[in-house]
Amino acid sequence: MPKVAVIGAGTMGHGIAELFAMAGYEVALVDVADEYLKRALQNIEWSLKKLAEKGQLKEDPSAVLSRIRPVVGDVCSAVVGVELMVEAVVEDIEVKKRVFAEADRCAPPEAILATNTSSLPITEIAEAVKPERKTKVVGMHFFNPPVLMPLVEVIKGQYTSDETVKKVAEYAQKLGKQTVVVNRDVPGFIVNRILARVNEAACWMVARGEATIQEVDSALIYKAGLPMGAFILMDYTGIDVICFIGDAMLKRGFKSHPCPLILEKCQQKKYGVKSGEGFYKYPAPGKFQWP
Ligand code: 3HC
Repeated sequence: MPKVAVIGAGTMGHGIAELFAMAGYEVALVDVADEYLKRALQNIEWSLKKLAEKGQLKEDPSAVLSRIRPVVGDVCSAVVGVELMVEAVVEDIEVKKRVFAEADRCAPPEAILATNTSSLPITEIAEAVKPERKTKVVGMHFFNPPVLMPLVEVIKGQYTSDETVKKVAEYAQKLGKQTVVVNRDVPGFIVNRILARVNEAACWMVARGEATIQEVDSALIYKAGLPMGAFILMDYTGIDVICFIGDAMLKRGFKSHPCPLILEKCQQKKYGVKSGEGFYKYPAPGKFQWP
């Protein structure tokens, strides 16, 4: 069975691991503590059962789950024999570089090392690996929830080869995804760059008293036809992640006018669904429910 490793078992990592296991890969799923892995496996089980109920899974959920091997902390042992690693750890360039350096040391020379970063430069992450691996470092950016969202952005850094981009697009297609190749390693790539503007515009309308949160979200859902309004989507994505993305883009020269309402939520640790409160309240933290 082909092997992959997913590093980071949070919101994105567990969904990415689930997708690869559904497509028949043996997946090593790494996180720093056993409790994060347990929660990830519970979330995957819940999601697989949902898909099975709807006839969208071609085998028993337990068969898919049996292909996911939880690994506490040890990136090196997880990447032995893999053809692909997808890193989905916290949006901190130093942490990501440490993961890439370790994976580079232990993965087979031909393995591709991909990052699911939302906004950090692929080229800078590639600085952590040996010169001969740099062509194999690439962005593979999924959207939340990875199992349901159809798009994967494949991002080419300065050193990424066309062959690597092609292979990663093929992996995404095997997972049933549509791909867009982002040829320039620009801040926020395509989707997050546009979403950042939408979030900022929505937030400033509320901050200036021109509309309420509910009015903005209703307009976006019932008129623009979006599946979620800007505020509920920020809660769903995690407002901490929105702040990381904003910060990373600002540092890379993306001209923006950060909105105080978003920054306040980050300072108050009101991160949205994951913490039980963001712009809306969620009675069961970690479980999304329409407010
Ligand atoms: N696995 C399996 N099933 C799931 C699931 C998962 N991970 N998450 C939700 N579902 C199920 C729900 O339980 C529900 O099942 P039911 O029909 O049995 O009740 C079903 O999917 C539909 O869900 P909902 O009723 O909650 O609502 P929706 O029809 O609105 O669908 C949604 C949910 C697909 C998340 C939709 O609201 C949506 O597309 N929202 C926008 C998400 C988006 O834009 N994501 C991208 C954010 S940006 C990003 O991720 C980039 C990163 O870098 C930050």
